[in-house]
Amino acid sequence: MIKKGIILSGGMGTRMSPLTKAVNKQLLPIYDKPLIFYPLSILMLAKIKDILIIVNKGQLNQYRKIIPNGDNLGIKITYKEQTYPKGLPDAFILGEKFIGKENVALILGDNFFYGQNLTSQLLNSVKLKKGAKIILHKVNKPELYGVAKINSRNKVTSIKEKPKKFISDLAITGLYFFDNNVVKFAKQLKPSKRNELEIVDLINKYKNNRKLSADLIGRGGAWLDSGSIEDYYKTSAFVSAIENRQGFKIACLEEIALNNKWINKSKIQNAIKFYGNCEYSNYLKML
Ligand code: DAU
Repeated sequence: MIKKGIILSGGMGTRMSPLTKAVNKQLLPIYDKPLIFYPLSILMLAKIKDILIIVNKGQLNQYRKIIPNGDNLGIKITYKEQTYPKGLPDAFILGEKFIGKENVALILGDNFFYGQNLTSQLLNSVKLKKGAKIILHKVNKPELYGVAKINSRNKVTSIKEKPKKFISDLAITGLYFFDNNVVKFAKQLKPSKRNELEIVDLINKYKNNRKLSADLIGRGGAWLDSGSIEDYYKTSAFVSAIENRQGFKIACLEEIALNNKWINKSKIQNAIKFYGNCEYSNYLKML
């Protein structure tokens, strides 16, 4: 069972500058809550309670204002700073002590997932004992992402980061499940041409040892990353449309914690005080 999760929530903030000059991207709103709530909700839906959030240097205090420690959610939050964006596998080097001898899930701070079978898919993925699992989703512009080619038995046959030449339209989403070897493998990586440790190189180590599996999010599920300003507003519009239509919130952390029986109603009262008089609190009052 995977009981630990990392959210990689740093970055340079260049693609969305000037918005991200003073505030980290993952603290900006996606509709009615900060972007970081969405990946955090995914780990919580996967029943992961021990979470490391990696933030960029100088932003720790800002993060602590919105997610102080996890007490109100019945989870444990630890923070670590990354001095500069060395690449996604750096999460496992910075997180070595946090991971210890256990297996671990990684989610990128700007990734958004939504769909009917999502929770059961997550609960299935955290059962991973050995190897690694990646989550794939069909996209129109695969050249913007890490991409995986699979055969008829859903086995991954090749992986490439942002391929200029088409190999497949299945993007590798920013949600990964690894066994404990990930720390050792991450330390063996060398920076790529763009001077970053590459997640695809890490995944390839598992693939070459025949230890890689892949799950697909079908067409009923949505995966969006808020990498560019356009994607960012599209994700916001998506959340607004669903929430206003259904009256349910996506990624209400307290609601997930309550459903998981990690907190009781008195913690909801604390949360209402913490957030103050706002629409999010009104929703909490209805729980
Ligand atoms: O979103 C999925 C894609 O994420 C994958 O398909 C790609 O294989 C993977 O490389 C990654 O591509 P991006 O180009 O979107 O990665 P980006 O550099 O934008 O980083 C993603 C998030 O991780 C972003 O919120 C910033 C954060 N980050 C990134 C790096 C490189 C860090 O916190 N530290 C880092 O060192």
